[in-house]
Amino acid sequence: MGTESELGTVGVGRRAVDATESARANRRWWDADAAAYHREHGGFLGEADFVWCPEGLREEAAQLLGPPDRLVGARVLEVGAGSAMCSRWLLGRGARPVAFDISAGMLDFGARTAASTGLVVPLVQADAQQMPFRSHSFDVAFTAFGAIPFVADSAAVMTEVARVLRPGGRWVFAVSHPIRWAFPDSPGPDGLTATMSYFDRSAYVEFDAAGVPTYIEQHRTMGDRVRELGAAGFRLLDLVEPEWPDGLTSEWGQWSPLRGKLLPGTAIFVCELG
Ligand SMILES: C[S@@+](CC[C@H](N)C(=O)[O-])C[C@H]1O[C@@H](n2cnc3c(N)ncnc32)[C@H](O)[C@@H]1O
Repeated sequence: MGTESELGTVGVGRRAVDATESARANRRWWDADAAAYHREHGGFLGEADFVWCPEGLREEAAQLLGPPDRLVGARVLEVGAGSAMCSRWLLGRGARPVAFDISAGMLDFGARTAASTGLVVPLVQADAQQMPFRSHSFDVAFTAFGAIPFVADSAAVMTEVARVLRPGGRWVFAVSHPIRWAFPDSPGPDGLTATMSYFDRSAYVEFDAAGVPTYIEQHRTMGDRVRELGAAGFRLLDLVEPEWPDGLTSEWGQWSPLRGKLLPGTAIFVCELG
């Protein structure tokens, strides 16, 4: 049975949803989908590898978190970590990562992979909109598609990251490229015609027969993201739009070789506090 049918999803639409409704729906979704997600994407993501996006950009090559020698001993927070494969990769390079996620189901996969790999990262269950960490306790924070695309209040996440980072700390996050919301969620030719307004910020909502959301994704424009970062005290150092590499044939949702050659699929914001 697929996650949609398990949760009783009967329809999709766009509407406003608040932070609580969004967090509740996404916790349920990721708990229910954890096994299917790892079956489908686990091979691509690895158990202790750091892949930023479906375009296959690796931290090893991109060094968006900074030079490798600066990561040795660094206190690193992974936001919306899923099963924390990126944190395990960082642990293997001498960093001191802590990984958190809203979904116990995703963290459970992380705990099992820690046991099988021997790479044990502290795992915490928490909502990115209210982080249970002391102020100024991390040198670096990052996420590869965790939390940010799902939270109703992404400005609150930026403020929370700014609070838990030390002055001068680095914050790097990957999300679906904002232009994605103008196009249908399809990897094929029908995914190449803009059918929706890029400026419509209402949430994408899947819902059950009672109208209760079973999955929610949130859209912000590029300008919204830049303004949220500025308001939280971050300087934007770089905005990486990974290009589709020659020879990569795998698809992931709407990400495909066809679309990837024409449109950006991922935006990675590289920021520094203060
Ligand atoms: C696409 S996964 C990304 C995780 C990991 N980087 C990966 O590639 O598997 C999205 C993750 O964001 C988490 N998430 C969603 N909303 C969250 C929130 N409000 N706070 C923390 N994590 C959240 C989900 O539980 C899920 O594990």
